Amino acid sequence: MNSLDWLHYYQQNKTNRPEPKWGLPSPLDAKMQRALSRSLSHFQLGETGEGKFLIAQARAQLPDDTAYHQALELFVVEEGEHARLLQRLVHRFGGRTIRHHWTHTLFRFVRRALGFKFEIQLLVTAELVGTAYYRLLQTRTRDPVLDEACTLILKDEAQHVDFHADWFGDFQSRLLPLEREIWSAQFQLLFTAAAIVAWIDHGYCLKITGANRAEFFREARRECIRFLKQPSQRAARELNSLTAEITSADCCFNSRFPSFQIVLCLVACRWQMIAGEPLVACWRKVRTPYGSMPRKIRGRRR
Ligand SMILES: [Fe+2]
Ligand SMILES: [Fe+2]
Repeated sequence: MNSLDWLHYYQQNKTNRPEPKWGLPSPLDAKMQRALSRSLSHFQLGETGEGKFLIAQARAQLPDDTAYHQALELFVVEEGEHARLLQRLVHRFGGRTIRHHWTHTLFRFVRRALGFKFEIQLLVTAELVGTAYYRLLQTRTRDPVLDEACTLILKDEAQHVDFHADWFGDFQSRLLPLEREIWSAQFQLLFTAAAIVAWIDHGYCLKITGANRAEFFREARRECIRFLKQPSQRAARELNSLTAEITSADCCFNSRFPSFQIVLCLVACRWQMIAGEPLVACWRKVRTPYGSMPRKIRGRRR
């Protein structure tokens, strides 16, 4: 999907959003509710923000892609909607939202220090880890309101990952295979660090719900693998279309590939020499005053 498609998606997704039935009682015990309210308040802080820095960076880096800027603005609005849902869940479980936390401070510091591309990467790692977290909460708890809120958030997060994957696919299609591998390796390191930080912060709550560390990392890694496939598939599609362009009949005369033309000409000349049709030495019978004699002829057809 291009930027305009994503803009249409976000515009559509704003409408007809079902609201969880907040009035339903919670069947969870007090210990679990306390752990959930603390853990959810940290995620709530992470989802809060106006995205001013991100959008300003996008405008500076991609000045012509106005549809992408608008889509990004709606993406930030959608994250704000998640923050609202999480705030209501925190209140439901008897907790209070927070304004500061070391994970949030670390995230903000790192993402602003290393530029727009890195900030998007960090956002994606947060989406992937968050997806694993919400999925485990949904499968491990029996609270109907938490279940409905997680369904809404997970549906959006899957699209957020695809939105960023499309952007990274476009960026990766301009990289050499080796550069793509290096990018992928550093992304995986970043993702692993984010997953470890998330487990340190939310492991206690997830353990109370019955989930364990291996389960959390398995979910998160599955999401990461799904994400990494998308940009590389897009880059492969771009490469295939480029190859098709090169091998098409008229590409030899395309001025975009001068070195390719030279190589092709050299190969053709060499092939002629090997095949020997025009340049090979050949023998022909000619009449001479002494009778018919064989004569060596070069560069002529038989
Ligand atoms: Fe979110
Ligand atoms: Fe998201």
